[in-house]
Amino acid sequence: MALVPLKRRRRAPSPPAGPLGAGRFPAVVLCLVEKRMGASRRAFLTQLARAKGFRVDGAYSAAVTHVVSEQNSGDEVARWLEQQREECGSGGDPALLDISWFTESMGAGRPVEIESRHRLRVTTLAPLGQQMAPYACQRRTPLLHSNQPLTEALETLAEEASFSGSEGRSLAFTRAASVLKALPGRLSALEELGPLPGIGEHSRRVIQDVLEDGISVEVERVKLSERYRTMKLFTKIFGVGVRTASRWYQEELRTLVDLQERNTKLTRQQQAGLRHYEDLNTPVERGEAEFIGQMVQEAVQRFLPGASVTLAGGFRRGKPHGHDIDLLLTHPEAGREVGLLSRVVSWLDSQGLILYQHSQENSFTLHEGPEAPGGRDLLDRFERCFSIFRLEVREGPGAARGWKAVRVDLVVAPVSQFPFALLGWTGSRHFERELRRFASHERKMVLNSHTLYDTRRNLFLPAASEEEIFQHLGLECVPPAQRNA
Ligand code: CTP
Ligand code: MN
Ligand code: MN
Repeated sequence: MALVPLKRRRRAPSPPAGPLGAGRFPAVVLCLVEKRMGASRRAFLTQLARAKGFRVDGAYSAAVTHVVSEQNSGDEVARWLEQQREECGSGGDPALLDISWFTESMGAGRPVEIESRHRLRVTTLAPLGQQMAPYACQRRTPLLHSNQPLTEALETLAEEASFSGSEGRSLAFTRAASVLKALPGRLSALEELGPLPGIGEHSRRVIQDVLEDGISVEVERVKLSERYRTMKLFTKIFGVGVRTASRWYQEELRTLVDLQERNTKLTRQQQAGLRHYEDLNTPVERGEAEFIGQMVQEAVQRFLPGASVTLAGGFRRGKPHGHDIDLLLTHPEAGREVGLLSRVVSWLDSQGLILYQHSQENSFTLHEGPEAPGGRDLLDRFERCFSIFRLEVREGPGAARGWKAVRVDLVVAPVSQFPFALLGWTGSRHFERELRRFASHERKMVLNSHTLYDTRRNLFLPAASEEEIFQHLGLECVPPAQRNA
C-alpha cells in the first residue's frame, strides 16, 4: 500500500466549537478565513458570532457549511478551500461568502438567506496548479510564457546545482521552472499554485521572494559567485562539460586566458571551441539555420537524390535563435542512407565550409534490445557529426571578417527510426526526459531516439510519425511549438 505523504495526513481534530456547542442554528457551521482578515479581527468576529449563538469552527472540516472571508478574491478562497480539503483529507462543499453576509447575519441575529451578491465569484474551478498534469509531456508549454523572471531564477539555481554535481537538486528546480512555463497566466501569489506536486519547498521560497521583492537574494548571490561565473565561462566552451570545468576551477583556473597561459591540456574539440569562443556564444539566427539547412540539403542531393534534411532542435520548436543547428538526415528507402554522412561532410569540407568536425559511426543494433529504463545514457547511437561550419555573413558579429563560426549537429536516421529520432532531437531536453520517464513509469515502455519498446508485451512498437509514438504512449500529441518545457 502506498504511504500517505506527510502533508496529506489528517490534521489534529478541530478545536471545540465554543461554549454553545452545535449553536442555535444546527444547519450552519461557519469558518472564517484568516488571510487578509488577520488573526485578531478573526478572533473578535468569532467571539461575536458565538455570542449570537452561531457555531464557528477554528479549522476547516467537512462539517463547515459557510466559509466567510474579507477582502479575498473568490479564486483565492477557492484555492484556500482546495488546500484545506487536501490537508484534512475530507471534502465538503461550503458556500464561499463575503463578509457582507456575516455582517448582515450578525445584525439580524440569525443566518440571513444567501443571495448572489454575498457569494464570492470563482472563475477557476481548481487552483492553477491542480489543472496541471504531472509530466511535462502531458502539458503544452509554449515558447513565450508569462513567468519569465520566476523561471529564470529557478533555472539559474538548476544550473548552479548541476555545476555542483547535484543532479537531483538541479532536476527539482528544472521541474519547478517547467511547471511555471506551462501556467496559463502570470502568477501573482504563491497560493495560486495550490498544493501542486512538483514544486518543492525550496522552489516555493524562491518564487515567493521574486514575487515579493522582484529578485531572490539567493539567486543574485549565486550569479555573483566566482564559482558559478567561472563554471559558466568554461562550460560555454564547445567540448567542455561540468566535470572538466570543475577540475579547472579546482586548479585555480579562472579565465580563458588562464587556459592558454598555463598550457592546459585541451582536446581537439576544446581547442576549436576556444578558438571560436565568441562566435559560438553568439546566438544563431533562424535565417542562418535555414540557410545552412539548405546548404546541407544541396550537398545531400549530390550524393543521394531523394534524401531529406530536417531542421530539428530549438528551431523546430519555434525558437527565433539557438546555440546550434540540429539537422536530421534520412532517405525513404531503408539502407540508402548508409555512408551518406561521410561523403556529405567531406564534400562540405573540400568547399572550405567546415572549420571543425568529428564524426561517429552508427552503433545501434536492434539485437541489443532496449537500454534499461531510466538508464543514464540519454545519447543515441546514430551516425552523426558534431561540427563547426564557416558561414559567410554580411552583417552582425563577424561581418568585418566576412564569416562566422556556427555549431551544427548532423544526424542520420534510417527511415524506420526517423520519427523517434525527430521526436528525440526536437527537445526540449526536459520534455524528452519527461517523455522517457512517463514511458517507463506509467507505461512500462522504453523510449529512446531509435525505438519504443513495450516491456510487458516484449515487443517494439513501430511508428511512421511522431503522432503514432504519442498514440502508443497513450498521450495527446504535443506539437513541437508546445514542447518548450
Ligand atoms: N540531443 C540528443 N543527443 C545529443 C545532443 C542533443 O539527443 N548528443 C537532443 C536533446 O535531447 C535535445 C535536442 O537534441 O532534445 C536538441 O539539443 P540542443 O541542440 O542541445 O538543444 P536545443 O533545444 O536545440 O537548444 P538550442 O536552441 O540552444 O540549440
Ligand atoms: Mn539545438
Ligand atoms: Mn544540438
